[in-house]
Amino acid sequence: MNALILQTLRCEETSRPPVWLMRQAGRYQPEYRALRSKHSLWELFHKPELAAQVTLLPVDILGVDAAILFSDILVIAEVFGLKVHFPEQGGPSIQPALCSAADVEALAAQPVEERLSYVQETIALLKPQLKVPLIGFCGGPFTVATYLIEKEKREAWMAHDPQSFHQLLEKISEASLAYLRLQIAAGVQVVQVFDSWASLLTPQQFAEFSLKYLHKIVEGIRATGVPLILFCRNSSLYPEELASLKPAGISFDWHQEMALLRQKVPFPIAIQGNLDPEILRGPYPLVKEATKKLLRSMKNEKGWIVNLGHGILPDTPVENVRCFVELVKESDA
Ligand code: CP3
Repeated sequence: MNALILQTLRCEETSRPPVWLMRQAGRYQPEYRALRSKHSLWELFHKPELAAQVTLLPVDILGVDAAILFSDILVIAEVFGLKVHFPEQGGPSIQPALCSAADVEALAAQPVEERLSYVQETIALLKPQLKVPLIGFCGGPFTVATYLIEKEKREAWMAHDPQSFHQLLEKISEASLAYLRLQIAAGVQVVQVFDSWASLLTPQQFAEFSLKYLHKIVEGIRATGVPLILFCRNSSLYPEELASLKPAGISFDWHQEMALLRQKVPFPIAIQGNLDPEILRGPYPLVKEATKKLLRSMKNEKGWIVNLGHGILPDTPVENVRCFVELVKESDA
């Protein structure tokens, strides 16, 4: 078993940094596109054999140091009996969207073991096939809330009825904790929380509507001993705030140098990132130059997982991704 990522999340000495990429299974891969031409996204998420097959694609093709469960942060909506719609064009939506405090009040969570048993089955299929750790995940409560409620209503709702907004965040946090615990019981060895949209908020709102609930999740998972990585878009705006929650790791975007972020995040918190996904699109000499620069800047640093600052863009050449992984694996950073 390759345990590099687990050692790094404990900030132990390793021979090189581990590498994996957000959205490492996706449209940039011809094998993924072939599967998508035959199956809807809904099928890929819900059929354990297919979800397991997609999870394994980048592990086999790229040789990354971790697998991430192929699923989506929005499947949590199914716990509340809501339907997630993934259209062929544009972003996902939830039906019916929540419109009022009464809708939040009426929101009732069903047991995750019933609603999301297919995720348990996917993990069970994957575990015997993997020689690298499996990463499970959920969305940050604020980010999930932005999808559950009607888009135009979010701002006014937070401003005029914070109490019911908090009630919604509370319900999502509880369900998310149960969902992460289900994944951990099934065998995931790391969890990552994606609070992608938290940086839409002002710093004060960030503390009130995002950080508070991330804190609940971090604390709820701590007793399991499974390391948790926090991800927000633009997390480099908030290194100290995120570090104050004492997660095992924090994933950063590319707006700050990794070495500088290291100084802002105390040990034993590991850091993850942060090549710009735009750079990974190429041309290749630029990918090579940027990756080498990143590796040099973090040479001999413990507690660093190499990744992008956000997910791989769909039109990224596979060859660039493969070479990026190779460069890290050849390094002795
Ligand atoms: O990273 C991985 O490889 C694991 C799988 C994964 C998916 N979604 C699969 C997916 C993960 C970790 C996510 C998280 C997710 N989903 C986030 C947080 C991370 C981030 O990107 O900021 C968010 C905000 C979502 C919601 C979501 N799902 C959006 C906005 C979209 C459409 C936009 C897009 O990228 O196409 C999805 C669909 C989705 N989820 C795809 C994948 C691979 C697109 C696949 C396709 O169309 O074939």
